[in-house]
Amino acid sequence: MKYSKIDFNKKTILITGGAGFIGSNLAFYFQKNYPKSSIVIFDIFRSDAIFSNGNLKSFGHYKNLVGFKGDVICGNINSKDDLSLLNDYKFDFIFHNAAISDTRVYDQELIIRTNVNSFYDLLELSKRNNSQMIYASSAAVYGSLPSPQIVGTEGPENPYGFSKYMMDQIAFNFSKNNPSLSIIGLRYFNVYGHGEYFKSKTSSLVIQLGHQILDGKAPTLFEGSDKIFRDFIYIEDVVQSNIKACDFNINGIFNVGNGISRSFQDIANILQKEMGTNLGTNYISNPYNGYQLDTKADISATSEQLMFKPNFSLEEGICDYLPEIKKLHNQDTL
Ligand SMILES: NC(=O)c1ccc[n+]([C@@H]2O[C@H](COP(=O)([O-])OP(=O)(O)OC[C@H]3O[C@@H](n4cnc5c(N)ncnc54)[C@H](O)[C@@H]3O)[C@@H](O)[C@H]2O)c1
Repeated sequence: MKYSKIDFNKKTILITGGAGFIGSNLAFYFQKNYPKSSIVIFDIFRSDAIFSNGNLKSFGHYKNLVGFKGDVICGNINSKDDLSLLNDYKFDFIFHNAAISDTRVYDQELIIRTNVNSFYDLLELSKRNNSQMIYASSAAVYGSLPSPQIVGTEGPENPYGFSKYMMDQIAFNFSKNNPSLSIIGLRYFNVYGHGEYFKSKTSSLVIQLGHQILDGKAPTLFEGSDKIFRDFIYIEDVVQSNIKACDFNINGIFNVGNGISRSFQDIANILQKEMGTNLGTNYISNPYNGYQLDTKADISATSEQLMFKPNFSLEEGICDYLPEIKKLHNQDTL
């Protein structure tokens, strides 16, 4: 579906983090709908390096890009040398998604260096190219503030959330000093859908529970999961928000969610209904202190200023995603 008035054919588009979940979906959106666009992906991909929590340091995977016809550059956003490889292009749009996306990384130096420092360089690139910048912020900036989460009231409670909060402030200051540039931050809530499989343990509850059910096991949830709420947003709607943002030559930070909170238990129940199983639920105690219990995005500004309207309820998103969940079952994530 075309979400914008802009003809992106003949436009040059940079997608950082393009080998990851959201970035690869954006790349294929442009390739499919605007085959004459020039798409450049910049991503560090994955190596064997792991964090102390046992998760990979980066989740980019070539399998997310099989069929992609644009340019791929393997590079680190922390390296000015690597970023200089982008000097050969003149970008009309920059979608900046590269980041340490794992919210349970507590190495403050690394996460802030990666997510924050690099942003200055990418903003300078957008200034040199006069390109529109659309970057990924996150609902993690809100910490455990009560719902609905509103832009302007933030309280990050982990290094990841802090890094995104700093990016928003950098964007705000950069826009003030460069008023002709358009810089838009999108605060994604809990995204699920095609392309997230290689995020392994950090992928959404939807695919993780889906695969437990396909194993014939009762889905495992924290005790009280009927009272743990999140604003889940389907990847197609996240793509919509990015594309619609291109239509508006403005600066700002916008929530990207459904504007509705649903419980963890809802996900297990919808999956079991759609898969025709009745396995019950395996409850375990929640090991985390300060666990977010309710997120619900205030999307009024996103609707009014970016014309964003989510098209997929949780039920519709899961139904659309289910064939992919089944296809990926038992595939390795290497
Ligand atoms: N998926 C969600 O629910 C969600 C929610 C809020 C915000 N976000 C943000 O959206 C963006 C995309 O998230 P995603 O879910 O696609 O995660 P992802 O991990 O699949 O994608 C991030 C990509 O960035 C790449 N990357 C990591 N470090 C890099 C570096 N130093 N240099 C170059 N590339 C690097 C990774 O290889 C990966 O391909 C991220 O900025 C993330 O913080 C995602």
